[in-house]
Amino acid sequence: MDENRFMFASNLQKTYRKNAISTPVLKGVDMEVAEGEFLSVVGASGSGKSTLMHLLGSLDKPDVGEIHYRGRRIDNLSAEKRDYLRNHDFGFIFQFYHLLPELSALENVMIPLMIRSSAFSWLGNGSKARKRAVTLMEKVGLGHRMNHLPKELSGGEMQRTAIARALIGNPALLFADEPTGNLDEDTGREIVELLRELNEIDNVTIIMVTHNLEIARGTHRIIKLVAGHVEAPAEQQPEIFGLVRPDGIENNPGVQNPPDDTRRQAGL
Ligand SMILES: Nc1ncnc2c1ncn2[C@@H]1O[C@H](COP(=O)(O)OP(=O)(O)OP(=O)(O)O)[C@@H](O)[C@H]1O
Ligand SMILES: [Mg+2]
Repeated sequence: MDENRFMFASNLQKTYRKNAISTPVLKGVDMEVAEGEFLSVVGASGSGKSTLMHLLGSLDKPDVGEIHYRGRRIDNLSAEKRDYLRNHDFGFIFQFYHLLPELSALENVMIPLMIRSSAFSWLGNGSKARKRAVTLMEKVGLGHRMNHLPKELSGGEMQRTAIARALIGNPALLFADEPTGNLDEDTGREIVELLRELNEIDNVTIIMVTHNLEIARGTHRIIKLVAGHVEAPAEQQPEIFGLVRPDGIENNPGVQNPPDDTRRQAGL
């Protein structure tokens, strides 16, 4: 039943048009993410991964196709309802953190709540918001860096701050677009470990774009964008490292590709 599915998209198509030039990017994407799942999206540069995230996250609209979330269609909502959904259900993490340079780490984390509330209600709720931001900063391991400006933080610390900011609205679904793309390998691994904890302990569903196959293989499932479509999933599941999807279904039981094969299939 559709009402019980967490999020799915069917026949998503998106063409960017600028002057007389049109760039078809998504040509009929079908995909789904289950509640509690940690899904990776891979694909060559320019294959439309960020475009897909923008559509799923209600930051942009598809030309054709539908997106359903928790029993309702969301791609055709009014701008106001999409804003509400983004603020209350979704969180976003990007490769370049997008922190405001003049605000402290803690203040950056509080921004979504400030935007959400009117000046009046902020007077009443500001200290509650601050407390929650402090709790989240501690959760991401930055209790000792709360008053630092972004330029006084390392890349990993900036990304942790961005993760805390993404969590402040208590999202059910987190979109992470190359969250480790700007970090060294060890720091990247730590960030993914943090995402994994959020997924496993706090039951946050995560869709993560990555170019790093090792990192993708640490998630529940991988989908790959090729030529505007999702490549047939049964073909590309890597070793599952004992991970079981939250719905209890093992990824492709019986399909255990050797690593080299995986690398070739994912085109990485
Ligand atoms: N706003 C836009 N206007 C015009 N073309 C765009 C726009 N955004 C993206 N594109 C084009 O659409 C294609 C897909 O872009 P997208 O950013 O989704 O790719 P990607 O898979 O995320 O790539 P990368 O791995 O490099 O981040 C690219 O060819 C890009 O140039
Ligand atoms: Mg991208």
